[in-house]
Amino acid sequence: MTMTARRGTFITLEGIDGCGKSVQAGRLFCWLREHGWDVERTFEPGGWQGGKTLRSLVLNGEIADAETELLIFLADRSGHLASVIWPALEAGRIVLCERYSDSTWAYQVGGRGLDPAKVRGLMELCGFPQPDLTIFLEISPEAAAERLVRRGKADCIETGGIALMSRVAGAYAELAAAHPERIVTVPAGGTEEKVALCIQREMERVLFSGRTCCEVPS
Ligand code: TYD
Repeated sequence: MTMTARRGTFITLEGIDGCGKSVQAGRLFCWLREHGWDVERTFEPGGWQGGKTLRSLVLNGEIADAETELLIFLADRSGHLASVIWPALEAGRIVLCERYSDSTWAYQVGGRGLDPAKVRGLMELCGFPQPDLTIFLEISPEAAAERLVRRGKADCIETGGIALMSRVAGAYAELAAAHPERIVTVPAGGTEEKVALCIQREMERVLFSGRTCCEVPS
């Protein structure tokens, strides 16, 4: 496989359930388009043809085994990369993705307690690229839980409760501390508007730095 320089910009949004990720992804998508950027908005799990089945498999509660669940998230990512993310980056577009590898680390290692070395090894084997920028929307598990209750819906992972979300939040904070060059922590407890402005500032920094990143398979 030959590699060519990737031309697009890969942005991910991360955080615990109820952090406001989808609302902020929507706002950021509109803001980028208003400023003339060509953006592919997508999400995990399930943001590609075929992903719907995998998404319902992991979210409907039928898979009790954490390792099986992990493999489904990885399979979903692999299909998502091949059919959506890589083609968009290769075409020079911005990819704005809700959840990506940091979710696997935070939920499957931090939340479910899977062996970090094993998960890291599997992810390396898969060869998933690093995002250029990851926005980590930080909020307390209690505040996020309140939002989820107001929203009135919870899938099987969301129903894992405050204890699970606290472990996931801790894993995200550790990730952000370990990768300050890539992960920006944005306090997500404020108003929608305030959080959106904070994210826009970070985007401007990355988009106008002229920084390009790794490689695209061809
Ligand atoms: P998401 O679609 O963000 O949930 P919603 O939009 O309903 O708030 O994500 C669904 C769940 O999947 C979420 O609880 C996090 C979990 N998840 C993992 O556990 N590992 C992963 O690798 C990914 C991508 C998601």
